[in-house]
Amino acid sequence: MFNCIVGEELTFKNLVNGQWITSSSNKFIDIYSPIGNCLVGKVPAMTKEEVDFAIKSADEAQKLWKNVPVNERAEILYKAADLLIEKVDEMSDIMMREIGKDKKSSESEILRSADYIKFTADTAKNLSGESIPGDSFPGFKKNKISLVTREALGVVLAISPFNYPINLAASKIAPALIAGNSVVLKPATQGSLCGLYLAKVFEQAGVPAGVLNTITGRGSEIGDYIVTHPEIDFINFTGSTEVGSRISKITSMVPLLMELGGKDAAIVLKDANLDLAASNIVAGAYSYSGQRCTAVKRILVVDEVADELVKKVKEKVEKLKVGNPVDGAEVVPLIDNKAADFVWELIDDAREKGAHLLVGGKREENLIYPTLFDHVTTDMRLAWEEPFGPVLPVIRVKDKDEAIDIANKSEYGLQSSVFTENINEAFYVAERLEVGTVQVNNKTERGPDHFPFLGVKASGVGTQGIKYSIEAMSRPKATVINIGK
Ligand code: NAP
Ligand code: G3H
Repeated sequence: MFNCIVGEELTFKNLVNGQWITSSSNKFIDIYSPIGNCLVGKVPAMTKEEVDFAIKSADEAQKLWKNVPVNERAEILYKAADLLIEKVDEMSDIMMREIGKDKKSSESEILRSADYIKFTADTAKNLSGESIPGDSFPGFKKNKISLVTREALGVVLAISPFNYPINLAASKIAPALIAGNSVVLKPATQGSLCGLYLAKVFEQAGVPAGVLNTITGRGSEIGDYIVTHPEIDFINFTGSTEVGSRISKITSMVPLLMELGGKDAAIVLKDANLDLAASNIVAGAYSYSGQRCTAVKRILVVDEVADELVKKVKEKVEKLKVGNPVDGAEVVPLIDNKAADFVWELIDDAREKGAHLLVGGKREENLIYPTLFDHVTTDMRLAWEEPFGPVLPVIRVKDKDEAIDIANKSEYGLQSSVFTENINEAFYVAERLEVGTVQVNNKTERGPDHFPFLGVKASGVGTQGIKYSIEAMSRPKATVINIGK
């Protein structure tokens, strides 16, 4: 259906202990573009022995890296950020071909990652420990002081998803490295060309041999082996709730930081600015075809303004540009046919159960046209499941309490928006929502990246965000001074 995006076929290697290697098995995984199903490149399928070697070399390198002064680690990160900026054109071309993200969004993901890396270096240089006097606790005297510093954890396993292959790898690597850890990156297979390119940038910036290693191979084949590897000290995972919960079941005594799925609601109250709500909802739901954890994935609107809001949303959805990311389309083919099949099942279910199809409901291979359903009810799968595609359900509610109730019945708890001009109503709703972040009068979104970003319930474990990620990937170390003993 789509022509291939022109570009050379890429064969990438893995970075292990400072060397770029293919696999001794000589097996490669072909990476096909979601646009026209053309071969973009190949990456090695690593063996278990090679995984062992990569993790072992990370373990050994970390023993030296943790003693490198923070200001020197920061210099390497600044260099990596500069290189990302320098290479934005080439990298964004690869990203567009590999995951079908449009050029502008690909560039902005890369530039945002450069900012993330720089801010991480700045933040780490400004972190300080604390000293706690003993006599504030009953029964203790002034002669006891706890000096609290932070220590690295060891080897961090970073597993990234397909949809932000640079940003969600960089936002694990940079804070882990600055905290003195070494990193083993296992990128999503579809996204691994971007992930390996990013590793090259860090290597060129001066990350010493072994401090950053990469592993490619299908998660279904090597995932369990890596996450249960005895030399992994921390797992930083972004991806589906299904894989995340599997990792948390099969690992033992390894701390986890997980960003998982979501079903973010946009709650629209009667006194909302409906134009603002409609434009935020449409941008939030359909950009990159809804393949964002923080995409708006349901509208909960009170009956009084439902007709008017739906009309405005519908008008905007009809104007979305659909097609090839090369032409700047907002709604592009999904990452693969399997993803499109799943979205199609949800569309079918909603249709069969009587939801009103207002826009879309059309498919060509892995391209799902932007789809909007009104009068979705809670017996429909679309009310609860995460499509990760361009389909948005409108659920009409009688009042704010019913909206809160339905919002909280979800297994997920990433973010929610509330649209209202009344600050008291905004706080009423925000206080009651079981999510990591509530956006007042804005679409759900992760940035700016120094804000805390977390999911509750099935949406995650732990907190990301620059300072929070550094803290998550380090631990306090207390040295207690006992004066005069
Ligand atoms: P996914 O299928 O769960 O894959 C994520 C990563 O896990 C990939 O690197 C994958 O490798 C790997 N993996 C697969 N099986 C594994 C196993 N048994 N052990 C260890 N790793 C394994 O997710 P995705 O399709 O890439 O991303 C979409 C999902 O991620 C959505 O649910 C979305 O909501 C979520 N997400 C959440 C956030 C957030 O911040 N909350 C951000 C982005 C995405 P392979 O590619 O080789 O299978
Ligand atoms: O897919 C998950 C990303 O972290 C979302 O980031 O809200 O900036 O698009 P975003």
